[in-house]
Amino acid sequence: MVQATPFLLVLFLALGAHGVSVKKVHAELFPLQCILTGTWANDLGSNMTIGTVKANGDFTGTYNTSVSATREKIKESPLLGSQHLPNMLKGQPTFGFTVHWNFSDSIAVFTGQCFVDDDGNEVLKTMWLLRTRADNLKNDWKATWVGYNTFTRLKEQ
Ligand code: BTN
Repeated sequence: MVQATPFLLVLFLALGAHGVSVKKVHAELFPLQCILTGTWANDLGSNMTIGTVKANGDFTGTYNTSVSATREKIKESPLLGSQHLPNMLKGQPTFGFTVHWNFSDSIAVFTGQCFVDDDGNEVLKTMWLLRTRADNLKNDWKATWVGYNTFTRLKEQ
């Protein structure tokens, strides 16, 4: 019987010699990546921390935004979301979450997908809608903002 550990070692060395990222192959063989638990930073400098992802994909967490549409003092705010769980065959799951800002009247929803890049690093590509509170119906048209954020995982210290 082939011993798994030396076999994988030889496989990785062979792949490495051909310029294939060992980290990426490892990530695809062992899909522990793209479970969103952990701390992430985005291109605006905002951070979020996601707690345990439950068996059904649901999770809670906290969001620290680096920017705001308001003049209020920014406070850490709760998020509630859900992800598809990565599997051996497909990986790179989609997810969504809502941030209930506790220093403004707004709500943000993010939807996105977790990718593993060519270096084996997880990247969250998201699109968001930020609903601000309009004072009246006539101002509804300008109340919803839209944008994109890219998140990468903050390595544990
Ligand atoms: C508000 O301004 O009312 C709440 C803060 C909104 C922050 C937005 S949500 C989308 C974008 N991505 C971030 O990390 N922060 C901004």
